Amino acid sequence: MQAEELANQVVTPPDPRLGDYAFPCFRLGKNAKEEAEKIKARLKLPDFLEKAEVAGPYLNFFLKNKVVAEETLNAIYKERKQYGRQNIGKGKKIVIEFSSPNIAKPFGIGHLRSTVIGSCLYKIYYALGYDVFGVNHLGDWGTQFGKLIVAYKEWGSEQELENNPIQCLLQLYVKFHEEAKKNPGLEDQARAEFKKLEDGNKESIALWESFKELSLKEFHRVYNILDVKFDSFHGEGFYNNLLESAIVHIDKKAGTKMSDGALIVDLEKQGMPPLMLRKSDGASTYHTRDVAAALYRIKKYKPEKIIYVVGSEQKLHFQQLFKVMELAGVDKNKFVHVDFGLFRFPDGKMSTRKGNVIFLEEVLNKAMELAERTVEEKNPSLQNKKEVAAVIGVGAVIFADLSNDRIRDIEFDWDRMLSFEGETAPYLQYAHARACSILRRALKEHNLDVSPHVNFEIIQLEEEAAVIKKLYNFPDVIIKVAQTYKPHLLAHYLIGLAQAFNEFYHKCPVLSEEKNHTKTRLLLVDGVRQVLENGLNLLGITAPEEM
Ligand code: ARG
Repeated sequence: MQAEELANQVVTPPDPRLGDYAFPCFRLGKNAKEEAEKIKARLKLPDFLEKAEVAGPYLNFFLKNKVVAEETLNAIYKERKQYGRQNIGKGKKIVIEFSSPNIAKPFGIGHLRSTVIGSCLYKIYYALGYDVFGVNHLGDWGTQFGKLIVAYKEWGSEQELENNPIQCLLQLYVKFHEEAKKNPGLEDQARAEFKKLEDGNKESIALWESFKELSLKEFHRVYNILDVKFDSFHGEGFYNNLLESAIVHIDKKAGTKMSDGALIVDLEKQGMPPLMLRKSDGASTYHTRDVAAALYRIKKYKPEKIIYVVGSEQKLHFQQLFKVMELAGVDKNKFVHVDFGLFRFPDGKMSTRKGNVIFLEEVLNKAMELAERTVEEKNPSLQNKKEVAAVIGVGAVIFADLSNDRIRDIEFDWDRMLSFEGETAPYLQYAHARACSILRRALKEHNLDVSPHVNFEIIQLEEEAAVIKKLYNFPDVIIKVAQTYKPHLLAHYLIGLAQAFNEFYHKCPVLSEEKNHTKTRLLLVDGVRQVLENGLNLLGITAPEEM
């Protein structure tokens, strides 16, 4: 076996008392325990390991406290905000597509999930040294825009559109469907309008552009609150001019056929419904635009991977897309659908239900308001209360999302989310603020600044060692998140770190100790502060120094 293959089998024991690393010996022979004993007998332990022990089929390894402490705390002290960054992705490009809301519709909660999960993965890959390119694949094309143009021409007003664009466009859309029930001719009109758009009619394009611009203005407010950035806003409409050449390419490489007047790629052999490239009226589809986008991205960015952060309800859509790309000769490992479940709101608890949609901006505003009340209660003399409350409220919403395995549905629970206890952002932010406060007091009251020149032998208590091991593991956690596309692994890690820190803090006095101890413990507190900050930032959450 190669070293790398062996290294990949190393796991972390569920209980830290069993050791820091475990090597499973199942594969080495019938009696795994015996195999483990054999290795142990032959093993010459490297300097950083304390001991190795056999536990059942595992060979467990224990790190030396002093060595780990010195290496880890020095690294954090030196690297600061860079601690955890690596360069395993150097020279490799990753395209990550996330958020991708639909123009002329409210920014929904599903898009919030895509936004925060995508933004976190963007930061994670960036931290690993990848060249990351973030795309917001705006839903700004399709037959619904034919409908909107018809509705706007019939019943719209420029004034209303300017004043409250999303509401106005949403109402027009609803009205179109009501009217179309009575007057089916409207549907034909809408198709004709979309055809005009696809053919590049000037007047249609101008209307479409204004819908898009007004919607984007609203979306940017949300992105600003969340502090999320993109490298490109190429939405579906961007690919309009590339559709024909994409169809020709797929026809040549994968083969297409006609079916009831529509052009499709047959996927029957693959056990999937066909992927439609052109409808019988000549219009493109959501799939056509995704095919064109995939081909464009491969050619333009030469990515190692294209990651799509989109809800689980579109699983089949992406399976079909990836299969067609594979049939067209693209390496199937290039594509990843990072899917996720629903965010559910308990009925009646939200005042933000308008029609059937939840306005994300109102969710965020409510979170900030509630956080402001809590801050007012807990720390009325705080300087910049509003700013801190914003960071806590927004952080709470982001963490409520990212702390769950993305595949699962989440129940939205205001009280739990904003609590300072349990698995919440405020809990982590509070642990961070506590670390900052210890460091401030050390400087002010004891004239002690953090320094790396400390005695590491002093670290002997279980609570100290537990914190240091967590800090030591941080870079590995970042890699795990990238490998699994699961931000909750980082969220859970941070909760574990904060818990270990709280236990340390209660058992090990920092400032009342004799000076040698204090200096070592201050370095440890500073390490916790830094890793909480770095970890929260990777999740897209700010860590205030006071709260
Ligand atoms: N706009 C789509 C929606 O809201 C999401 C786009 C997903 N990305 C893609 N390449 N199809 O459902």
